[in-house]
Amino acid sequence: MGKVALVTGGSRGIGAAIAQKLKADGYTVAATYAGNDEKAAAFTAETGIKTYKWNVADYDACKAGVAQIEADLGPVEILVNNAGITRDAPFHKMTPQQWHECIDTNLNGVFNMTHNVWGGMRDRKFGRIVTISSINGQKGQFAQANYAATKAGDIGFTKSLAQEGARAGITVNIVAPGYINTEMMSTIPEKVMNEVILPQIPVGRLGEPEEMARAVAFLVSDDAGFITGSTISANGGQYLA
Ligand code: CAA
Repeated sequence: MGKVALVTGGSRGIGAAIAQKLKADGYTVAATYAGNDEKAAAFTAETGIKTYKWNVADYDACKAGVAQIEADLGPVEILVNNAGITRDAPFHKMTPQQWHECIDTNLNGVFNMTHNVWGGMRDRKFGRIVTISSINGQKGQFAQANYAATKAGDIGFTKSLAQEGARAGITVNIVAPGYINTEMMSTIPEKVMNEVILPQIPVGRLGEPEEMARAVAFLVSDDAGFITGSTISANGGQYLA
């Protein structure tokens, strides 16, 4: 059995591609999901990747979930913080609920998950943590003050933990996707996608989830042991950070 890799939000979209890539690379993969039982069951049936249900916004659920995975599969050596949501609205219409839901999942969720694997990684003197941020955390985005704040926060979090993890053999990095061909794009009105977003992408297309997965697979590999605190921007040239 290969090293255990835990991918949050790993049954759909970018997370599913990451989970499958890591399995193909020989890791023992566990994927978490928050709500969609049917999709998760189908994903497990299709890929053989075990899925676990909990909300990353809930610290105690993360603690119990990590303990369960470690009992089932062994110590988590690789964590991919992928679970994320959007609650887009221009700021003058944004509700406190939209703000807090984003912060709870995208930023507090990253704390909750990382905090529950960090001690074990420190004890074992090895760990790989990759968090999926976003181009919109790097450049800001109309109607995403909430989401962009969380994704920028993930970058500051990562740069800080990279400094703390270095002496314990733990690397901590970011992949910052641009606009990727997943269900998340369905919330964007077609007119905005065609007239505003696509013309801003120099390669002229959305990215594919598998392209993000390959970047993650590199960062968690032994080849990337000297890379920590970094952000890989994977956005088709839309924003050069
Ligand atoms: N850039 C510039 N202008 C935008 C825009 C954008 N991305 N999105 C919407 N607008 C404009 C609209 O064209 C419209 O302009 P007009 O009034 O001149 O027609 C105006 O904003 C809409 O204003 P409203 O007050 O009517 O907005 P609304 O309350 O109806 O909300 C919206 C609509 C939520 C903003 C919707 O347009 C939307 O979802 N836009 C896309 C926002 C976006 O790009 N989100 C990224 C999602 S992908 C992601 O998050 C993954 C990732 O990490 C990259």
